Amino acid sequence: MSNRLDQLISHALDGRRSVHQFRQRRCVDPIDAVRVRVGPRELVNFCSNDYLGLAARYRDIVFSRTGYGAGASGLICGYTSEHAQAETELARWKGTESSILLPSGYQANLAAVQTLHAISEASGRGIRFIVDRLVHASLIDAIRQVEGWVGKSMTRVFPHNDVAKVRRLLEQADPNDTQVVVTESIFSMDGDAGDLENIAQLKSQYDFILLVDEAHATGLYGPDGAGLVAQLRLHEHVDVTITTLSKALGLVGGAVCGKQSLIESVINFGRAYIYSTSTPPLFASATRDAIQICRQEPNRRKRVLSLSRQVRSDLQEGGIDLFPGDSPIIPVLFHEESRAMEAARQLEDQGLLVLPVRPPTVPRGTSRLRITLSCEHSDSQVDQLIRAVLRIVSGLRSRTR
Ligand SMILES: Cc1ncc(COP(=O)(O)O)c(C=O)c1O
Repeated sequence: MSNRLDQLISHALDGRRSVHQFRQRRCVDPIDAVRVRVGPRELVNFCSNDYLGLAARYRDIVFSRTGYGAGASGLICGYTSEHAQAETELARWKGTESSILLPSGYQANLAAVQTLHAISEASGRGIRFIVDRLVHASLIDAIRQVEGWVGKSMTRVFPHNDVAKVRRLLEQADPNDTQVVVTESIFSMDGDAGDLENIAQLKSQYDFILLVDEAHATGLYGPDGAGLVAQLRLHEHVDVTITTLSKALGLVGGAVCGKQSLIESVINFGRAYIYSTSTPPLFASATRDAIQICRQEPNRRKRVLSLSRQVRSDLQEGGIDLFPGDSPIIPVLFHEESRAMEAARQLEDQGLLVLPVRPPTVPRGTSRLRITLSCEHSDSQVDQLIRAVLRIVSGLRSRTR
């Protein structure tokens, strides 16, 4: 065993421990759609992204009917008619010409950014990414990767939702560079919406590609739960839509949606697609079930959005400041890592699982409890959560005085 490796590990991990950022996993075993077992305890889960309670639904309907592993990448023999049908159905739902499934949302973002860079390079053009400061780590990692290939920074970050800044950056753009504006429809950690309408409006004046990550809006907003881009009727303006199957659809996987030509480009240039084994056919098949459930059971998204409005208004009435919006991602900010962790510990003692989110996942000074809701939470579970959060927040605040 290398001493050097031991030294490197202990230095890095001790650094994390000293600032309350050391991460550890625990086994969280589902009991039903909202209850989990953690060690000896049964807890109500308020930290899953399974907003529509679908993860538990598939066991009976899908497992018996299709294969598990794809066996190879899509360009070898891992693209089955299950994938083809799911991609067609997904595109129809999202209102795009086409779509392509990837094994994760992370990979979907990687493949999309790799593709935009490659097609721009093929035309002898540079590329510049104009990125909301709060976009998901997978988008940041994707852009950093292509920057590493090129050996220079190609990113301008704008303050969250600052459309005036986006406009200034577009105004100053080098005409030899392709401009790509990157944002999300519902932000994963703040739970608020991207200012998609105003960004889309800039398209009438400036030439840019618009990439929107709909990971947390898919299944919840718009006609049949197709997403916020569909709700706002912005299809014409959004060139690249990313979705995940892993949040409201309760599965695992991601997809890039857009024009047929974009999807052909991903197949040719998206290394995260080309060099990775396809999404298991099981999940491709379940994607169609998920879309059907979204179409046929609108009460799921209505209920989770109504619970979200209730929790938001009760917490605000109790004196807690929240970010704007109505999504089921409701962060309660504590600023200090240690306080967010203490609040989570106290909630767990009361039977509620809410995880603290700390830097580097969120900016320094914005540690938080990230509460997420499911349509399967009962009214009494939600009441219990609201009462516990209000009590704990006021207890922790009075301790600082
Ligand atoms: C906004 C956003 N994009 C992409 C991803 C990655 O998706 P997946 O978990 O399917 O890899 C996530 C998940 O955490 C996310 O929140």
